[in-house]
Formats: sequence, C-alpha cells, structure tokens
Amino acid sequence: MRRIAFMNQKGGVGKTTTVVNLGSALARRGSKVLVIDLDAQGNLTLHLNGDPRGSERTIYDVLKGACPLPDAIRETEEPRLSVIPSSPSLAGAELEFAQAIGRETLLREAVDLLPADRFDYLFIDCPPSLGLLTLNALAAVREVVIPLQTEYLALYGMGRLLEVVALVRRRLNPALSLAGILACRYDARTHLAGEVLEEAERHFPGKLFRTRIRHNVKLAEAPSHGKTIFLYAADSNGAKDYAAFADEFLGGPPLTPSPAAVPATASSPPPAPVPKASKKNPSTPPPPAPKPVVPVALPTPLKSSPVFVPSLSRPAPASVLPKPTPIPAVFVPSLTKPLLPKPVPPPARPLAPVVSPIPAAKSASQSVASPLSTIAKPPSAI
Ligand SMILES: Nc1ncnc2c1ncn2[C@@H]1O[C@H](COP(=O)(O)OP(=O)(O)OP(=O)(O)O)[C@@H](O)[C@H]1O
Ligand SMILES: [Mg+2]
Repeated sequence: MRRIAFMNQKGGVGKTTTVVNLGSALARRGSKVLVIDLDAQGNLTLHLNGDPRGSERTIYDVLKGACPLPDAIRETEEPRLSVIPSSPSLAGAELEFAQAIGRETLLREAVDLLPADRFDYLFIDCPPSLGLLTLNALAAVREVVIPLQTEYLALYGMGRLLEVVALVRRRLNPALSLAGILACRYDARTHLAGEVLEEAERHFPGKLFRTRIRHNVKLAEAPSHGKTIFLYAADSNGAKDYAAFADEFLGGPPLTPSPAAVPATASSPPPAPVPKASKKNPSTPPPPAPKPVVPVALPTPLKSSPVFVPSLSRPAPASVLPKPTPIPAVFVPSLTKPLLPKPVPPPARPLAPVVSPIPAAKSASQSVASPLSTIAKPPSAI
C-alpha cells in the first residue's frame, strides 16, 4: 500500500480537491483507495457526501483509541474509493493529545493495523497547519505531495514546510520522501502563474509534476453536490486534468525534466499517442498511455531523492539519510526577510552636470528586484 500525505500549511491551495479527485481517478482505474480526512473542517468528508457531524466513527475516534481504524472506514459513491471521515472534535486534538505518550505516531500505529493488501493507496488530507495532526500524517506515510497554488505568495512558507518534513524524517520517519509538487488552480492566462512555476522548478528541480490542475469552476462546484469531479462533470477540464495527473502518478514520466532526472532506459515504454482530451488542454503536457493497474512501487527517481532540506539544526545520522546532494536555493528568506526589497539608496549627486537623466533612472529601476526574485534569495541570506 502506497501511503501519501497531501500537505501545505497554506489554506485553500487544493489539497482536499486533489485527494478526492486523484483518489477517484485511481479508483476508476481499478485501484482500491482509502482517503482519510484529517482536517477538523471536514471538507473531504463533505466532498464525498458524508457528514462530519454524523454519528459514525471518525478519525478522531481512531486517534483516541476508541475504535480500530478499519471500523471507521466508509464506502463512497465511487466504487473502490473509501473514506475515513473527520469530526469537528479534531479541532481540539492538538491540545487533547498534547500530553499523550507517542502523540506524533497515533495515526501510524492505527494505520499499521490495516492489512497491507486491503488498499493500494492511502491518502491523507492534512489540515492547513503544521501542528500535531500534520505531524501524525507525516509519521504515517512514506511520501508527501505538496499542492501548490500558482499565486504570488505560494512559495512563501515552503521553506518552513520542508523543514518540518525534514525534521519528521530525521526524528520519526526516515522513509519519508517528497513525491512532488503539484500546481493547482493554475491560470494559464496569467504570466504570474508561469513565473511562479518557473521559480518552483528552479528551486525544487525535478520535483514539479508535469500535470497542472487548471482553475476550473466545475472543480469548485463539485463539493457542494457531494460528488467527485468525475461524477459531477466528467467532461470538464477539471476531470481531464485530474485524469492526466492520475496517469502521470501511475507511472508516466513522473516529474519535470531536470538535470537530476533519470534518463530513459532501454525498458522505457515508447511514447504514447496523445489522447484526445489532452490535445484540448494546452496547459497539460500529454500524459502517457494508461497502464494496467498493478500495485505501484515508488518511481525509481523518488526512492533515492532526498527530501529537500532547507536547514537542519542538527545533522542526521549518516545511516538514516542518503548522501547529501547539492541543495538548490532555499525558500527560507521569506521567514527572515521582509517581503519588499530594501529601498535603493539614491545615486550620489554627480559633480559634473548631468547630460541626460535617462541612464540614472534606468539603473535605479534595474536595481529593484522583481517580486519573484525577492522570494528567491539564495540561502546565504539565512
Ligand atoms: N482547480 C480548481 N479550480 C477551481 N476551484 C478549485 C480548484 N481547486 C480547488 N478549488 C476550490 O478552491 C477551494 C479550496 O480548495 P481545497 O479545499 O481543495 O483546498 P485545501 O488546500 O484543501 O484548503 P484547506 O487548507 O482549507 O483545507 C475549494 O472551494 C475548492 O472547491
Ligand atoms: Mg482541505
């Protein structure tokens, strides 16, 4: 069973939408998928037509030890897609479990009791915070997917997020790795979306999934009908994008090309014909041909790729971490630096009469960094 947490402490970026619709797409391809709603908001539960305030067992009962995890599993409208609902009581879990022994591994212990062949995938929908519940998710999985909204502030906070992933990896879960970053709510009409993705690719080379989930109103409407995008609007761009992501996830070229990307081997399948849907979707690269569904192993490049570690306060034991690889520039400056660039001091007054004011004005404007280059200050700034 492949265990994956979908996390980003930023709210509204597409975590829940991705868990529901990727889960559904994989279930439609024949996999058995369990999704866990670990957010007190209960959005995942609602999206799958459940009621987080209902009387059924929830993930809160599981964490409390009041019921074994299998007893909290519910079927959904989608065949092979199951859910463990959330409860509003989760909102108090951080405090309630704060003193519990082994509080970060409550979920892992519960999940470990699932028979390995009962599900092919376990997805955990994390809350928008880096608190105890998210730590429990990270301790219980082997992979992390980060949905990233392609907006100006999207990359802020990535340093902190990856620091937490690295910390969990060091202290709780050495098997944890970053599966990839998924661009969500992508608007191909704006330059900004493209620039944010370029920045993300520059800082996390090879970690950006090729598929982009475009902004699509049907994706926003589907939760209010308690349906996945495939049941609500099968012909929508949202359905096409999540279907394309499922194909990529199942074993197409997994990530954006990068210097670190593993070259194609002799056993690589030939390029697949472009399906009709993706021809209409200029923002999504053509997905590979769907493969027969088998329990999926980790893609090779991911097994060995270390989690991006912005700053480790203590070196990890050599036996636990893979050999360090060159670490790209880090997104931590946002934690320590103000958002706007420092004001540029006015040029010294020339002694000789200025022939033309234009060059001076030009050089001043050149020295003001673009907003994105401000985000992307190198780690020397830490
Ligand atoms: N690609 C998209 N196009 C349009 N709307 C979207 C898209 N993805 C998500 N949404 C909508 O944006 C809102 C936030 O999405 P979602 O709930 O998936 O984010 P989240 O990261 O889980 O949020 P939270 O952190 O609050 O749990 C929802 O109303 C959802 O329906
Ligand atoms: Mg959510």
